Amino acid sequence: MRPFRIRGLSGIRAVKGKLTLPGDKSIAHRAIILGALCRGRTVVRNFPANKDCLATLEVFRRLGIKSVRDSKRNCVSIYGKGLFGLKKPESPIFIEESGTTYRLLLGVLSGQDFPSKLCAGRSLSRRPMLRVIAPLRRMSARLAGCACRGAKDEYPPVSVKVASLKPITYRIPVASAQVKSALLMAGLYVNGVTRLIEPVKTRDHTEKMLEFFKAGIKVKGRNISLKGAKPLVSPGEVFIPGDISSAAFFIVLASILPGSRAMFEKVSLNPSRMGMIKALKRMGADIKISPVKCRYSTEPMGNITVKSRVLKGAVVKKEEIPSLIDELPVLMVAAAFARGKTVFTGVEELRVKETDRINSMLVGLKAMGAVSRLVKKGRREDIVIIGKGCLTGARLKSFSDHRTAMSAAVAGLAASGLTEIDDMNCVNKSFPGFTAALRSLVTG
Ligand code: S3P
Repeated sequence: MRPFRIRGLSGIRAVKGKLTLPGDKSIAHRAIILGALCRGRTVVRNFPANKDCLATLEVFRRLGIKSVRDSKRNCVSIYGKGLFGLKKPESPIFIEESGTTYRLLLGVLSGQDFPSKLCAGRSLSRRPMLRVIAPLRRMSARLAGCACRGAKDEYPPVSVKVASLKPITYRIPVASAQVKSALLMAGLYVNGVTRLIEPVKTRDHTEKMLEFFKAGIKVKGRNISLKGAKPLVSPGEVFIPGDISSAAFFIVLASILPGSRAMFEKVSLNPSRMGMIKALKRMGADIKISPVKCRYSTEPMGNITVKSRVLKGAVVKKEEIPSLIDELPVLMVAAAFARGKTVFTGVEELRVKETDRINSMLVGLKAMGAVSRLVKKGRREDIVIIGKGCLTGARLKSFSDHRTAMSAAVAGLAASGLTEIDDMNCVNKSFPGFTAALRSLVTG
């Protein structure tokens, strides 16, 4: 594979223009899943044709759900068959590398009247599943993951046997939208009310999507209740707003490249995903937001305008981490280009993403001359970065992780000298058009 090469900062380079981002990956997964579990046609607009969302479509095809993609119009029609309309797959289902698909599907499959087995690609097969399997077992689901090599956790492949699910009240121990959403998916198959309490509010796309499909869901702060065994109703159409996690790379780049001014259109502004914007504003970033209305969006959305500014260090608290978890890699780049100390508190969940992102980012930033350290306090891990306002180009590894790769590209574009990233293909997981968008927006 040829490395991706980035020329160092020429002094006149800036981010300029407008960009419409592909639809939000998290929201799109939920739209496909609920579209498959209600009856009739649901058109998903601004569908992001990335590897992960295509994996979700493919899983439902294997489960007997027809979907038709219109690539020109960026939409996909799902022909749902109701809560009990899925068909038994003929062989184990392969989920590739999509963690959200995998975990949410464990919830859906736990409620089916047929057994199944979910397999995964190399990286996903190393990600922990017990956080989902354990509470599902409390609901009487019959799941068995791979507890290979004497591990304390369970990993893919996971087998799911037929079971009759029971309602539970569950205090979720880990701040994870995937865990919460898997339990809500299983809750659709429960005769009774599933009650969940989150430790910290995580992204609430599942709750919003369930409401849009007329499920019996109620949310009060961190308390969620779902009345199951109630058919879902298709809204006919769902518009997926732009992915703020993809916009994040350009928002940081526009903030740190002098002379930049750019607008990102129709981006999801869900408050549970706005941590990155809040943190950047505290760092002094010039970011303005104007809301845009759309009756087929389950989420608030709007246009985000960014102008470059000299950034300063800031503290990101542990409670904020779920609202910016996927943006932490690129925020670390912003911190390296800021002046002064930035502390990211309680970031240990980064260890169990597509790669160990604490390691991948600290290794890369160190190669570029950044000053950083990791502080461990029991299980808790904090990252401290002392920003010097500049980095030097280097040879970087993406660790086959899309967000590490895109963060490395942002760092390389703003650094001096040459940067080489070993593998950029991994960006297809969430943002196939990333390098083309860079070319269209970055001048100089
Ligand atoms: C996601 C939740 C988060 C996030 C992931 C997508 C989702 O994972 O990191 O990229 O769509 O629910 P966790 O729930 O593991 O924090």
